[in-house]
Amino acid sequence: MEVLGPIGVFDSGYGGLTVLAELRKKLPQHDFIYFGDNARAPYGNRSFDVVYEFTLEAVKFLFDQSCPLVILACNTASAKALRSIQQKDLPQIAPNNRVLGVIRPSAEVIGERTKTGHVGILGTLGTINSGSYPIELAKFAPSVQVHQHACPMWVPLIENQQYTHPAGQQFIAEDTNALMNSHPEIDTILLACTHYPVLKNQIEALVGPAVQVVAQGPIVADKLKDYLLAHPEMASRLTKTGTTSYITSETTAVFNEKASYFLGEQIKAEHHSF
Ligand code: DGL
Repeated sequence: MEVLGPIGVFDSGYGGLTVLAELRKKLPQHDFIYFGDNARAPYGNRSFDVVYEFTLEAVKFLFDQSCPLVILACNTASAKALRSIQQKDLPQIAPNNRVLGVIRPSAEVIGERTKTGHVGILGTLGTINSGSYPIELAKFAPSVQVHQHACPMWVPLIENQQYTHPAGQQFIAEDTNALMNSHPEIDTILLACTHYPVLKNQIEALVGPAVQVVAQGPIVADKLKDYLLAHPEMASRLTKTGTTSYITSETTAVFNEKASYFLGEQIKAEHHSF
């Protein structure tokens, strides 16, 4: 008999909480375990091999917590580790379990949102250098032009809650303006890092009302709902008591404080280190 369990949600740090919040809204009856590898975040500037190794460890850990399905709520991990895990590791370690990412669902819909045919992608160095968005968008919206810009300082600014300080605001303005100045035709910007939704208001103020700034959480949640309808064999393996638990590789006191800020509610995490 197959083990029943919650949906695992993984990110290098706090960013995946922006996806988790939307998953909980759209799938309120489901159970979730969030794992943040905060002790080793950020992943954005790390090598392919390291991101893959850390992500695989996290996926195996969530499988050990009885999660039949794990969402990589992290673009960097989705870009650098998802394919290898799906193709190489899953068949060996847990052939009936599934690991899904955030890039493909976002690419499936973002091309439909632009009227000018120019989409901007803001992400970590790892995500941008992987070329994953141009590759995926070429499949779903081949006529759309994709303009990318890496923002290596943004995740550290967000993790350390420095993004409203003048120095933080300067980094955010510089990167946003660099993207828009290089391609003023852009009318749609995808926040291709799950940390970035906390900057959405700041970015909207910089680009003005003619440019829509799109966060991934609602897209990923809609797509997961569709996926579960299309895969009843997986849906039937997921427990549904409406609970969420949190695990971090950092000290729990720091995680509790920062995660509560991201979620707008008090939470109590447990600790796990590798
Ligand atoms: N939230 C992760 C992402 O979506 C941040 C990656 C990092 O740790 O730099 O890319």
